[in-house]
Formats: sequence, C-alpha cells, structure tokens
Amino acid sequence: MTAPLIQLRGVKKAFGEVRVLEGVDLDVAEGETFVLLGGSGSGKTVLMKHLEGLLQPDEGTVVVDGHDLSKGDPKALEAVRREVGVQFQSGALFDSLSVADNVAFPLRELQHLKAPEVKQRVDELLALVGLTDAAAKLPGELSGGMRKRLAFARAMALRPKIFLADEPTAGLDPMTTETVDDAIVAAQKKLGVTAFIITHDLPTAFRIADRVGLLFEGKIIEAAPPETFKASKHPAVLAFLKDWLEREASARA
Ligand SMILES: Nc1ncnc2c1ncn2[C@@H]1O[C@H](COP(=O)(O)OP(=O)(O)OP(=O)(O)O)[C@@H](O)[C@H]1O
Ligand SMILES: [Mg+2]
Repeated sequence: MTAPLIQLRGVKKAFGEVRVLEGVDLDVAEGETFVLLGGSGSGKTVLMKHLEGLLQPDEGTVVVDGHDLSKGDPKALEAVRREVGVQFQSGALFDSLSVADNVAFPLRELQHLKAPEVKQRVDELLALVGLTDAAAKLPGELSGGMRKRLAFARAMALRPKIFLADEPTAGLDPMTTETVDDAIVAAQKKLGVTAFIITHDLPTAFRIADRVGLLFEGKIIEAAPPETFKASKHPAVLAFLKDWLEREASARA
C-alpha cells in the first residue's frame, strides 16, 4: 500500500473569531477521485486552499505528495504547485485568447514546449473535452458548459499529478453538468490524475467520485464510496441529503 498522495491530519483554521476547520483528517490515494460536499460557508474552499499552499493551517499537518505544506516552506510550495492543476470557482479564462490559446498558454509560458508539441497537446486536450470544433472561438462565444470544459482542459494542460476543482459545474443545467462530468471522468481515466473536487451537486458527486466526503462543523464527518455514503446513518449526512432532495423538488415545482 503506497502512502496517500494527499494527507491531512488534525487541520484547524480560524479567521479571527470564526473557526472554519476544526480538525480535518483526510487521505486521498493516488489515482482516486475524492469529492467534497458541504453547505455554503462550511469551509470547502478554505480546505482546498490548504492543498495548493494558499493557506496554512493554524494546527495540524497538510502533506501533498510527500511535501509538508503546513509550515509555509517555499521549496515545498513550489514543488507542489508544479504538480497541481487547479480549476477555480470562477473559471478565470483569458477572454482575449482563443480556446486553443487558452489551453496552450501554460504550455508556452511554463513548459517552453515547441510549437508542434504544444499543438499536439492542445489538440489532444480539446478532443478529450469535446471542444475540437471550437478551437478558434473566443471564450465569450462559448456556452457555460463549454467554458467549464475549457477551464478543465486548461487545468489539465501541464499534466498535473493532482487536479483540484472548486465547483466545476456550478450554474449549469443538469444536461450540461453531465457533459462536464463525463469530460472530467474521461480525462481522469486517460491521464490517471488524482482529483479533489468540491461540488454542491449531488448527482455530479455520485457520478464522478470514488469516495464522497461531507464537511460539517469543521470536520469531514463521513468519507465513503457513493453507495455507502448514500446509506449513511450519520445525522448530518441524512440532513444534507434530505435538504438537497427538498431543494430539487421545489426547483422542479
Ligand atoms: N480570507 C478569509 N478571511 C476571513 N474569513 C474567511 C476567509 N476565507 C474564508 N473565510 C470564511 O470562512 C468560511 C468558509 O468559507 P468557504 O469559502 O471555505 O466556504 P465554502 O464551503 O467554500 O462555501 P461556498 O459553498 O459558498 O463556496 C466563511 O465563513 C468565510 O467567510
Ligand atoms: Mg467555496
């Protein structure tokens, strides 16, 4: 058994009086897709920021691919940032660059690849997310789902060992959400990446996750494969699932 690629132990984080994380323990194995659920404001984004070294814990340890990020060691931070591809909550696309150039940008800037190699990698990624025909378009000409798939392709351009995504399907309708989910799953199978994904969307969570976790009152109180998670008797999981079903029902009504 290899050591987990992501390992958190007793992670605590507060902002002034606001205690956000109150002892998070988490292991994510190499190649695994872990999906984090939790109410709005429960601390999901704060937790993810610890995995890319944007925040350091007040207490506890964060180890990513053997690098300890808890102490703000610049060498560890630099090493991890080279291994991590991030899809932000907002997408953060370059609006004046074409779809193809958005994906090519990190390859040219950070990897100094030659033009034919860049083209090959860009073609491969656009095919993977179904955007081959949109290569010459500008992001402003794309639908919401296409923009999300583009943001994903760009996050994967440097072939990261670890993929982090904050709400990769937020604001999309169920059908479009499914196409983004499918793109993520296909790419992960092909590229063998380890993924940590935050979502509000339960169907997405159950479709793409190897394990689903719930962040509640500053801790991950359940982390299990989808079928086990759905059958959980933990009161906070039951409340979260019930709340979601009710919101879905009222959205349909
Ligand atoms: N830099 C910061 N300074 C002060 N408070 C912060 C900071 N970042 C986050 N918080 C607080 O931490 C709490 C958790 O925020 P976080 O963004 O992690 O929630 P979330 O679970 O991602 O919510 P959402 O689902 O709405 O995105 C909130 O109360 C937020 O106000
Ligand atoms: Mg958030």
